[in-house]
Amino acid sequence: MASGSVDEAMRRAITLAARGIGTTSPNPAVGCVLLDPDGEVVGEGFHAYAGGPHAEIVALAQAGRRAQGGTAVVTLEPCDHTGRTGPCSHALIVAGIARVVVAVPDPNPVASGGAATLRAAGVQVEFGVGSEEAEAGNVAWLTSMRRGWPYLIWKYAATLDGRSAATDGTSMWITSEAARTDVHALRGTVDAVIVGVGTVLADDPRLTARNLRDGTLAIRQPLRVVVDSHGRTPADALVRDGAARTWIATAAEVGAGPDGRVDLPSLLAELHHRGVRAALLEGGPTLAGGFLAAGLVDRVIGYVAPKLLGAGPTALADAGVTTIADAIDLELTDVTQVGPDLRITALPRKREG
Ligand SMILES: NC(=O)c1ccc[n+]([C@@H]2O[C@H](COP(=O)([O-])OP(=O)(O)OC[C@H]3O[C@@H](n4cnc5c(N)ncnc54)[C@H](OP(=O)(O)O)[C@@H]3O)[C@@H](O)[C@H]2O)c1
Repeated sequence: MASGSVDEAMRRAITLAARGIGTTSPNPAVGCVLLDPDGEVVGEGFHAYAGGPHAEIVALAQAGRRAQGGTAVVTLEPCDHTGRTGPCSHALIVAGIARVVVAVPDPNPVASGGAATLRAAGVQVEFGVGSEEAEAGNVAWLTSMRRGWPYLIWKYAATLDGRSAATDGTSMWITSEAARTDVHALRGTVDAVIVGVGTVLADDPRLTARNLRDGTLAIRQPLRVVVDSHGRTPADALVRDGAARTWIATAAEVGAGPDGRVDLPSLLAELHHRGVRAALLEGGPTLAGGFLAAGLVDRVIGYVAPKLLGAGPTALADAGVTTIADAIDLELTDVTQVGPDLRITALPRKREG
């Protein structure tokens, strides 16, 4: 079989995997393409939702007997454990698959071991094809599984002069409807949306993922998290409206840092424990400063509106930086115009030492 067809199949598997982003959590998004011994595609699938069939199982069902002696091309090492579904390693062996090509090993200690089981059954297993693209496609899940806390995206909206609200406290709506629609789509890809109690008191946001025009809620809603050391969230706050699950995370429940506020690493550890793999930090400047100072932000997405305010709070408050040499260095990865606004994506560079 030409290796070109395996590379092509892996590209297709990565595209398929992406369809599960936002719906598979706490499971990974996985894609699979099956080739028969002549290199023809005989089945493909992706993991669509937690509890549903895994990518390999969907593809095997499609291929039937044509999978025999063939190659399975998968974005993540096939699982080796029985959870809500049976082990994929076993299903591939039973189907008579001769070779399995994997992009990325499974970092989850509970599910890993698929490669060893396959090899023990005489199946040839290769790693590394398409690994960079597959990593990028599943970066939130892989990162959170490897280190035990969620992949955190800090999203903010600001004017061109970096203001996140006017002096009278108003901040709705700095950016356009197009940008806000983009944010709602982003909310649909994460498991939790996090704000500080300051934002709840100032803006009383709903924090649901919804259609801005008619208010229709997305099928899957992220957990709404209010970081609220002393339980100041009002009883009638919209985040308590029952439209989605809400967790008011207090210092008494999570633990307090040296300043008496909610300890942010403990908060993230608890969220991971609750199945959160990707989280969106939506504000405001104080909490964002806390997370950035602790080095807990993995990606920054800034929506910048072509407006000037000249005064008012900045998008980011104290993040522990007092001199330019200590500025949090970012690597710009994307700049896209969304309606009249700019969406700027950047990754914090790892600090030495
Ligand atoms: N443009 C934007 O993107 C955007 C987004 C959101 C908000 N905003 C604006 O931001 C303003 C609110 O700002 P804000 O800074 O008060 O909101 P915030 O960052 O959402 O909330 C800050 C509060 O979070 C609580 N907190 C708990 N643990 C913390 C910790 N470890 N580190 C830091 N904070 C912790 C603190 O209150 P306790 O100590 O009582 O817990 C703190 O006062 C409003 O004007 C709002 O409109 C703008």
